[in-house]
This record gives sequence, structure tokens and C-alpha cells, in this order.
Amino acid sequence: TSILVLNGPNLNLLGTRQPEVYGHTTLADVEAMCADWAASAGCAVTCEQSNHEGSLIDTIHAARGVHDGIVLNAGAYTHTSIALMDAIASVALPTIELHLSNVHAREEFRHRSFIAKIAVGLICGFGAKGYVLALDAMKAHLED
Ligand code: DQA
Repeated sequence: TSILVLNGPNLNLLGTRQPEVYGHTTLADVEAMCADWAASAGCAVTCEQSNHEGSLIDTIHAARGVHDGIVLNAGAYTHTSIALMDAIASVALPTIELHLSNVHAREEFRHRSFIAKIAVGLICGFGAKGYVLALDAMKAHLED
């Protein structure tokens, strides 16, 4: 089993970016947590991050035939990008939408998600731990 963890715009600044909202855990810490999870779960996990919508789409296309599922924190593109939604639908890989913050408790414009329309499910509000929760959920989903 191979899972792609894909992080979108501004998540490279995790740890220093609005820590009151997103916490103090850095992207490197998140990637280390994912590697630890992979080792104990006996799965492969690949972590990628880009600030560019087109690069995220290229990465999703390249995941076809390589990974079995995607954990996607698309950042603000979640709320705006039909192109990312279409990319996920095009490769037909099961995808879990993830957010560190509880987007539904925040501004109205964060309540809409294009990713949710094609996602298996979504996890939000658990901070960096959400990545591990999402990996557990994806593993269970793939084993189903
Ligand atoms: C986020 C929530 C988004 O609304 C925001 O634009 C982000 C981060 C989160 O992980 O909580 O960049 O996806």
C-alpha cells in the first residue's frame, strides 16, 4: 500500500504561520510523523508540497499507478479550485480531504470545499495529528 500525502499552498510555512490557528508543528515534523506512521503501519508514504496549483495537478496525475490513495491538504485551493477537484476525479484515486484547522468554525469562505465533492471523507480540526488520523483512515478504506 502506497499513500501520497499532498500539501498545498502556504503549508511549507507550517510552524511559523499563524501558530494560533495551525499550531507549532512544522512541515518537516509532519513529514517525520508520516514516515513514523509508514514504518509502523507497513505502508509506503510519500510527502509532497507545492504552492502552485498546476504543480499540485501534475503531482496528482503522476500518482496514478504509483500510489493507492491520496491524503490532500489543498490549503486555500480547497475552497476555489475546480481544477484540483477535476484532477482527483480524473485519476480516480481515493482521496481524503484534510485540514489542520476546523474550517467550519472559521470564515464562511472556508466552508465551501470543491475537494469534498469527490473525497472519500474529510478530517479537520485535529491539527498535525490529523495527518496520522487521515493515514489510518486511508489504510482502513483501502483494506475494505
Ligand atoms: C487549511 C485551511 C484552509 O482554509 C487554509 O486556506 C489553509 C490551511 C488547514 O489545514 O486548516 O491554507 O487547509
